[in-house]
Amino acid sequence: MSDTDTGQWIATVPLADLKRRKKLRVEVGDRAVALFLVGERVFALDDTCIHKGRSLSRGVLWKGKVVCPAHQWTFDPETGAADDQDECQPVHDVRVIDGVVHVSAHPRP
Ligand code: FES
Repeated sequence: MSDTDTGQWIATVPLADLKRRKKLRVEVGDRAVALFLVGERVFALDDTCIHKGRSLSRGVLWKGKVVCPAHQWTFDPETGAADDQDECQPVHDVRVIDGVVHVSAHPRP
């Protein structure tokens, strides 16, 4: 969780579901967001890969990084920074409230 508040919070899925699946694609307003559980922490990235638009939620977690299924760009789930690239995947702040994952409607600036 981050203390940064970027506005509206959207309730998505029970944390228990994410604990079972480790990754889930959810709708947050008009954006598709990929949730990942890394250890005990929940991270939210825009689902549409900034490279060529594939779905990050179809990717895998590898050594704590999110790996896109298309061309294997790897992203830091906390910052969205892509390894060996100048670009960043948009990331959203996350809160877990009463066992439900809430995601900020807008990516972190
Ligand atoms: S579309 Fe994600 S790495 Fe190319």
